Amino acid sequence: MFLNDNLKIFSGSSNPELAGGVCKYLGIGLGGVKIDRFPDGEKAIKLEDDVRGRDCFVVQSTCIPVDEHLMELLIYLDCLRRASANRITAVIPYFGYARQDRKDEGRVPITAKLVANIITAAGADRVLTIDLHAAQLQGFFDIPVDHLTGELVLSEYFRDKNIANLVVVSPDVGNIKMAARYVRHLGGDLAIVHKRRVSGERVEADEIIGEVEGKNVLMCDDIIATAGTVCSAANLVRERGAKRICIGATHGIFAGQALERLAKTPVDEVVVTDTIPLTEEAKNVGSIKVLSVAAMLGETIKRIHRNESVSSLFNSI
Ligand code: R5P
Repeated sequence: MFLNDNLKIFSGSSNPELAGGVCKYLGIGLGGVKIDRFPDGEKAIKLEDDVRGRDCFVVQSTCIPVDEHLMELLIYLDCLRRASANRITAVIPYFGYARQDRKDEGRVPITAKLVANIITAAGADRVLTIDLHAAQLQGFFDIPVDHLTGELVLSEYFRDKNIANLVVVSPDVGNIKMAARYVRHLGGDLAIVHKRRVSGERVEADEIIGEVEGKNVLMCDDIIATAGTVCSAANLVRERGAKRICIGATHGIFAGQALERLAKTPVDEVVVTDTIPLTEEAKNVGSIKVLSVAAMLGETIKRIHRNESVSSLFNSI
C-alpha cells in the first residue's frame, strides 16, 4: 500500500496493540515517542520523530483508568500541536464519559460535552471514533468527527456463523435501531427487552416485546460495562424459552461485577471488539471472544489521509 511519510500514527498507552494493528494494516511503523512520568506522577511525553507539517493520528481509547488516559491524550495533542504537526486527528476507539451526555436531573454536569471541549482545545483538528454511546454526541464537537461502527466486524462474524432460527434482541429500548440493522444484515426476527435502571450497577429487565421461545438469540449492545443490562436481558429471554444466547457489543469494559455476572448467566458467547483491551481476568473467560477493528480503523485513516470518502466504507450496513 503506498503511503508517503507525511502520515504518522502514534499510540497512547491505552491500547498499543490496536495501534500496532492499524500500522500493520497501513504498512508503516508506529511513530516514536517516549511516555514517562515525573517523580510526582505527572505524565511526560516526548516525540522522537519529526512531525512538522505531517498528518498525525494519535490512537488512544479513554478507557479505564479513564482520567489518566484522557489526560495523556490531551498532553499528546498539545505536544503534536507545539511540534507543528499540520493536522492532528484524535483516534478515540472508545470514547469514555459518553454516557454522561445530558442533564437528566438537577445539578449534574454534561461531562461528555466538557470532554469534547477539552480535546478540541488541546489541539485536535478531527476526531475518529467508534460507536459513541449516542450518535448525536458528534455534535458536541465543533470539528469534523468520523463516526465508525463496530457493527461491521460483529455482523460479519455472526453472518459467518449462519445462526438458524435467529432472533436479534435489543436489551433496552435505546438499542432498537442497532438491533434492526442487525436484522437487516443477518435476517431473523426482532425482539426488544424493556429495562429499568435501578442504579449505576443494577438494572432490571421486566418485559419483552417479540417472540423468543425456541429461538437462538443474538443480543446486541454498544457497551458492556457492569454487564447488568445484557445479563438481566439474557436471564429474561432464557426464562421465556430462548435456546442459545450470544451477545455482540462493540466496547467490552467489563467493570465491577461484570465477569461474575456473566459467569452466572446462561450466555454461550460474548463477542466484543478490541476498542478496549481485555483485562487479564477477562482474558481467562473462555466465552469472551475479541474481534479486531484495526483494519477498519486503518482503512479509514488511509481515506482521511487521502481525502477520500469514509462513508462509502459503510454502505453495506
Ligand atoms: C445503555 O444505554 C447502554 O447501551 C448499555 O446497555 C449500558 O451502558 C451497559 O451498561 P451495563 O453493562 O453497566 O449495564
